[in-house]
Amino acid sequence: MKIFNSKSEYGLLAKLFHWVTFIVLIAQVPFGFYLVGLEFSDERIELENIHILIGITVFYLTLFRLIWKFFNPSPSETRSFFKGQVFIGKANHFLLYLSIFTITISGILKKLYMGETLSFIFFKYGFEKDNFVLADAYYQVHIYANYLLLALVSLHILAVIIHHFVFKDKILKKIT
Ligand code: HEM
Ligand code: HEM
Repeated sequence: MKIFNSKSEYGLLAKLFHWVTFIVLIAQVPFGFYLVGLEFSDERIELENIHILIGITVFYLTLFRLIWKFFNPSPSETRSFFKGQVFIGKANHFLLYLSIFTITISGILKKLYMGETLSFIFFKYGFEKDNFVLADAYYQVHIYANYLLLALVSLHILAVIIHHFVFKDKILKKIT
Protein backbone atom coordinates (compact mmCIF):
# COMPACT_ATOMS: atom_id res chain seq x y z
CA MET A 1 0.00 0.00 0.00
CA LYS A 2 1.37 3.41 -0.98
CA ILE A 3 2.03 6.04 1.66
CA PHE A 4 0.99 8.92 -0.64
CA ASN A 5 -2.50 9.66 -1.97
CA SER A 6 -3.19 8.87 -5.60
CA LYS A 7 -5.86 10.46 -7.82
CA SER A 8 -8.35 7.74 -6.90
CA GLU A 9 -7.37 6.55 -3.41
CA TYR A 10 -6.07 7.87 -0.10
CA GLY A 11 -2.55 6.75 0.86
CA LEU A 12 -1.62 4.86 4.03
CA LEU A 13 -0.88 7.93 6.13
CA ALA A 14 -4.15 9.73 5.24
CA LYS A 15 -6.06 6.50 5.99
CA LEU A 16 -4.34 6.17 9.36
CA PHE A 17 -5.11 9.81 10.23
CA HIS A 18 -8.77 9.27 9.29
CA TRP A 19 -9.38 6.03 11.19
CA VAL A 20 -7.28 6.83 14.27
CA THR A 21 -9.19 10.15 14.61
CA PHE A 22 -12.48 8.30 14.17
CA ILE A 23 -11.67 5.75 16.90
CA VAL A 24 -10.44 8.42 19.32
CA LEU A 25 -13.47 10.67 18.71
CA ILE A 26 -16.10 7.97 19.20
CA ALA A 27 -14.58 7.43 22.65
CA GLN A 28 -13.77 11.06 23.52
CA VAL A 29 -17.23 12.60 22.89
CA PRO A 30 -19.17 10.23 25.20
CA PHE A 31 -16.26 10.37 27.66
CA GLY A 32 -16.70 14.18 27.85
CA PHE A 33 -20.44 13.89 28.49
CA TYR A 34 -19.82 11.19 31.12
CA LEU A 35 -17.19 13.36 32.82
CA VAL A 36 -19.46 16.35 33.43
CA GLY A 37 -22.02 14.15 35.17
CA LEU A 38 -19.52 12.98 37.83
CA GLU A 39 -19.41 14.33 41.40
CA PHE A 40 -16.35 16.44 42.19
CA SER A 41 -13.56 14.07 43.36
CA ASP A 42 -9.92 13.11 42.82
CA GLU A 43 -11.11 10.49 40.33
CA ARG A 44 -12.93 13.16 38.32
CA ILE A 45 -9.80 15.36 38.22
CA GLU A 46 -7.81 12.33 37.06
CA LEU A 47 -10.36 11.56 34.31
CA GLU A 48 -10.47 15.23 33.27
CA ASN A 49 -6.67 15.19 32.87
CA ILE A 50 -6.96 12.12 30.63
CA HIS A 51 -9.72 13.89 28.62
CA ILE A 52 -7.43 16.90 28.18
CA LEU A 53 -4.42 14.81 27.17
CA ILE A 54 -6.49 12.93 24.56
CA GLY A 55 -7.98 16.25 23.35
CA ILE A 56 -4.58 17.90 22.90
CA THR A 57 -3.37 14.78 21.06
CA VAL A 58 -6.35 15.10 18.69
CA PHE A 59 -5.40 18.75 18.13
CA TYR A 60 -1.83 17.80 17.09
CA LEU A 61 -3.09 14.88 15.02
CA THR A 62 -5.46 17.14 13.07
CA LEU A 63 -2.74 19.75 12.60
CA PHE A 64 -0.29 17.17 11.20
CA ARG A 65 -3.10 15.74 9.07
CA LEU A 66 -3.77 19.12 7.46
CA ILE A 67 -0.05 19.77 6.90
CA TRP A 68 0.16 16.34 5.21
CA LYS A 69 -2.95 17.15 3.13
CA PHE A 70 -1.37 20.46 2.04
CA PHE A 71 1.70 18.69 0.61
CA ASN A 72 -0.25 15.65 -0.58
CA PRO A 73 -3.72 16.65 -1.88
CA SER A 74 -6.71 14.34 -1.41
CA PRO A 75 -7.91 12.13 -4.30
CA SER A 76 -9.64 14.32 -6.88
CA GLU A 77 -11.45 11.60 -8.80
CA THR A 78 -15.14 11.62 -7.86
CA ARG A 79 -18.10 10.68 -10.03
CA SER A 80 -20.78 13.37 -9.74
CA PHE A 81 -24.42 12.33 -9.58
CA PHE A 82 -25.91 15.80 -9.17
CA LYS A 83 -24.82 19.43 -9.46
CA GLY A 84 -23.03 20.78 -6.41
CA GLN A 85 -22.18 17.31 -5.08
CA VAL A 86 -18.42 17.90 -4.97
CA PHE A 87 -18.97 21.24 -3.21
CA ILE A 88 -21.20 19.63 -0.54
CA GLY A 89 -18.60 16.92 0.08
CA LYS A 90 -15.79 19.47 0.39
CA ALA A 91 -17.91 21.69 2.67
CA ASN A 92 -18.63 18.69 4.92
CA HIS A 93 -14.92 17.85 5.16
CA PHE A 94 -13.95 21.49 5.78
CA LEU A 95 -16.56 21.84 8.56
CA LEU A 96 -15.44 18.54 10.14
CA TYR A 97 -11.88 19.89 10.41
CA LEU A 98 -13.21 23.23 11.68
CA SER A 99 -15.36 21.63 14.38
CA ILE A 100 -12.45 19.48 15.63
CA PHE A 101 -10.25 22.59 15.92
CA THR A 102 -13.06 24.57 17.58
CA ILE A 103 -13.61 21.81 20.16
CA THR A 104 -9.94 21.41 21.03
CA ILE A 105 -9.03 25.13 21.04
CA SER A 106 -12.12 26.13 23.07
CA GLY A 107 -11.31 23.37 25.61
CA ILE A 108 -7.75 24.66 25.88
CA LEU A 109 -8.90 28.30 26.26
CA LYS A 110 -11.46 27.31 28.88
CA LYS A 111 -8.74 25.76 31.03
CA LEU A 112 -6.25 28.59 30.43
CA TYR A 113 -8.84 31.25 31.40
CA MET A 114 -9.53 29.24 34.56
CA GLY A 115 -5.98 30.27 35.45
CA GLU A 116 -4.56 26.75 35.10
CA THR A 117 -1.26 25.72 33.55
CA LEU A 118 -1.69 23.12 30.82
CA SER A 119 0.71 20.51 29.53
CA PHE A 120 0.88 20.69 25.74
CA ILE A 121 2.99 17.49 25.74
CA PHE A 122 6.13 19.27 24.41
CA PHE A 123 5.84 22.27 26.75
CA LYS A 124 3.71 23.72 29.55
CA TYR A 125 1.83 27.00 29.33
CA GLY A 126 -0.56 29.09 31.44
CA PHE A 127 -2.01 32.63 31.36
CA GLU A 128 -0.87 35.07 34.06
CA LYS A 129 -4.47 35.94 35.04
CA ASP A 130 -7.78 34.09 35.15
CA ASN A 131 -11.05 35.29 33.59
CA PHE A 132 -14.02 33.13 34.59
CA VAL A 133 -16.46 34.88 32.25
CA LEU A 134 -14.33 34.02 29.22
CA ALA A 135 -13.66 30.54 30.61
CA ASP A 136 -17.41 29.91 30.74
CA ALA A 137 -17.95 31.39 27.25
CA TYR A 138 -15.31 29.06 25.77
CA TYR A 139 -16.87 26.14 27.60
CA GLN A 140 -20.21 26.92 25.91
CA VAL A 141 -18.36 26.93 22.57
CA HIS A 142 -16.83 23.56 23.55
CA ILE A 143 -20.28 22.07 24.13
CA TYR A 144 -21.97 23.46 20.97
CA ALA A 145 -19.01 22.51 18.76
CA ASN A 146 -19.47 18.93 20.01
CA TYR A 147 -23.12 18.98 18.87
CA LEU A 148 -21.99 20.41 15.52
CA LEU A 149 -19.42 17.61 15.18
CA LEU A 150 -22.08 14.98 15.93
CA ALA A 151 -24.38 16.47 13.25
CA LEU A 152 -21.56 16.65 10.67
CA VAL A 153 -20.37 13.10 11.34
CA SER A 154 -23.97 11.85 10.99
CA LEU A 155 -24.25 13.61 7.61
CA HIS A 156 -20.83 12.27 6.62
CA ILE A 157 -21.82 8.67 7.40
CA LEU A 158 -25.23 9.11 5.74
CA ALA A 159 -23.46 10.34 2.59
CA VAL A 160 -21.17 7.30 2.61
CA ILE A 161 -24.21 4.98 2.95
CA ILE A 162 -25.96 6.72 0.04
CA HIS A 163 -22.80 6.52 -2.10
CA HIS A 164 -22.34 2.87 -1.29
CA PHE A 165 -25.91 1.61 -1.67
CA VAL A 166 -27.59 4.11 -4.04
CA PHE A 167 -24.80 5.46 -6.27
CA LYS A 168 -22.81 2.20 -5.91
CA ASP A 169 -19.56 4.09 -6.58
CA LYS A 170 -17.33 2.15 -4.11
CA ILE A 171 -16.47 5.32 -2.16
CA LEU A 172 -15.38 3.26 0.86
CA LYS A 173 -12.53 1.74 -1.16
CA LYS A 174 -10.94 5.21 -1.27
CA ILE A 175 -10.33 5.29 2.46
CA THR A 176 -10.11 1.61 3.53
C1 HEM B 1 -15.47 10.85 13.74
C2 HEM B 1 -15.88 10.42 12.58
C3 HEM B 1 -15.32 10.88 11.25
C4 HEM B 1 -14.69 12.04 10.92
C5 HEM B 1 -14.34 13.23 11.81
C6 HEM B 1 -14.37 11.95 9.50
C7 HEM B 1 -13.70 12.94 8.79
C8 HEM B 1 -13.39 12.86 7.45
C9 HEM B 1 -12.71 13.89 6.71
C10 HEM B 1 -12.24 15.22 7.31
C11 HEM B 1 -12.57 13.46 5.43
C12 HEM B 1 -11.90 14.21 4.28
C13 HEM B 1 -10.46 13.81 4.17
C14 HEM B 1 -9.71 14.77 3.27
O1 HEM B 1 -9.73 14.58 2.05
O2 HEM B 1 -9.12 15.73 3.80
C15 HEM B 1 -13.18 12.15 5.35
C16 HEM B 1 -13.25 11.37 4.20
C17 HEM B 1 -13.93 10.18 4.13
N1 HEM B 1 -14.56 9.52 5.17
FE1 HEM B 1 -14.69 10.11 7.09
N2 HEM B 1 -14.82 10.76 9.02
C18 HEM B 1 -15.42 10.07 10.04
C19 HEM B 1 -16.02 8.84 9.98
C20 HEM B 1 -16.18 8.10 8.84
C21 HEM B 1 -16.86 6.81 8.75
C22 HEM B 1 -17.49 6.08 9.95
C23 HEM B 1 -16.81 6.44 7.46
C24 HEM B 1 -17.38 5.19 6.80
C25 HEM B 1 -18.55 4.71 7.10
C26 HEM B 1 -16.09 7.45 6.71
C27 HEM B 1 -15.83 7.42 5.37
C28 HEM B 1 -15.13 8.37 4.66
C29 HEM B 1 -14.89 8.30 3.22
C30 HEM B 1 -15.36 7.20 2.26
C31 HEM B 1 -14.13 9.43 2.87
C32 HEM B 1 -13.64 9.82 1.47
C33 HEM B 1 -14.64 10.76 0.87
C34 HEM B 1 -14.19 11.29 -0.48
O3 HEM B 1 -13.00 11.42 -0.72
O4 HEM B 1 -15.07 11.60 -1.31
N3 HEM B 1 -15.72 8.45 7.59
N4 HEM B 1 -13.66 11.80 6.58
C1 HEM C 1 -11.57 16.16 20.26
C2 HEM C 1 -11.41 16.59 21.46
C3 HEM C 1 -12.49 16.78 22.49
C4 HEM C 1 -13.79 16.35 22.54
C5 HEM C 1 -14.53 15.51 21.50
C6 HEM C 1 -14.35 16.85 23.78
C7 HEM C 1 -15.66 16.62 24.20
C8 HEM C 1 -16.20 17.05 25.39
C9 HEM C 1 -17.57 16.88 25.81
C10 HEM C 1 -18.65 16.22 24.98
C11 HEM C 1 -17.71 17.43 27.05
C12 HEM C 1 -19.00 17.50 27.88
C13 HEM C 1 -19.64 18.85 27.67
C14 HEM C 1 -20.90 19.07 28.50
O1 HEM C 1 -21.93 18.48 28.17
O2 HEM C 1 -20.86 19.87 29.46
C15 HEM C 1 -16.41 17.93 27.44
C16 HEM C 1 -16.12 18.52 28.65
C17 HEM C 1 -14.90 19.09 28.95
N1 HEM C 1 -13.81 19.20 28.13
FE1 HEM C 1 -13.61 18.38 26.30
N2 HEM C 1 -13.41 17.57 24.46
C18 HEM C 1 -12.25 17.55 23.70
C19 HEM C 1 -11.06 18.18 23.98
C20 HEM C 1 -10.82 18.92 25.13
C21 HEM C 1 -9.60 19.65 25.40
C22 HEM C 1 -8.39 19.75 24.46
C23 HEM C 1 -9.76 20.23 26.63
C24 HEM C 1 -8.82 21.10 27.43
C25 HEM C 1 -7.54 21.27 27.19
C26 HEM C 1 -11.07 19.86 27.13
C27 HEM C 1 -11.59 20.22 28.34
C28 HEM C 1 -12.82 19.88 28.81
C29 HEM C 1 -13.27 20.20 30.14
C30 HEM C 1 -12.48 20.94 31.21
C31 HEM C 1 -14.57 19.69 30.24
C32 HEM C 1 -15.46 19.76 31.47
C33 HEM C 1 -15.16 18.59 32.34
C34 HEM C 1 -15.66 18.79 33.72
O3 HEM C 1 -16.58 19.57 33.95
O4 HEM C 1 -15.09 18.14 34.57
N3 HEM C 1 -11.69 19.06 26.18
N4 HEM C 1 -15.51 17.71 26.40
